[in-house]
Amino acid sequence: MSHPVIEERPAAHGDALNLVRAAIAEAAGPGAAVQRVVDLLHDRFPPYDWVGIYWVEGSDLVLGPWTGPEATDHIRIPIGTGVCGAAAASGQTEIVADVEADPRYLACFASTKSEIVVPIFDGGAVIGEIDIDGSDPDAFDGTDARFLEEIAALLSPLRPPPSAREA
Ligand code: SME
Repeated sequence: MSHPVIEERPAAHGDALNLVRAAIAEAAGPGAAVQRVVDLLHDRFPPYDWVGIYWVEGSDLVLGPWTGPEATDHIRIPIGTGVCGAAAASGQTEIVADVEADPRYLACFASTKSEIVVPIFDGGAVIGEIDIDGSDPDAFDGTDARFLEEIAALLSPLRPPPSAREA
């Protein structure tokens, strides 16, 4: 008898998804909810050194809530530029194991060694993304991608209205 291979979700990811759902339900509004999600991801997963959300604004990505050791200068990134812009253009999750080896990489922090960028969709359209920088090389894998894709689906309804997204 053959059995389908069912890949188990790590317990830490299931726990975090439950906390994220609760935080969104309890938050005062969408902006507070997104900030809470970013904080949860950063605080519960030590390799997630810098966690930020970019929202699509016209042909750019505009930085929304973030948590990490430092602010980034990249508060507006044209779609198509950088790893962030590549993920927004393609709608594909990007995992960069070694940022120095990726010519698309836009440097933000000297400490960053690896990066994952996960698009946020509304229907078929990319409306934003989760960007996470790691201080360890090769900090992210497919398990992180699947987890963060579930988080992205929870963030999608929290996109701010256009007036609130003006930087
Ligand atoms: N490294 C990103 C830019 C954003 S910062 O990491 C916060 C990129 O290559 O698009």
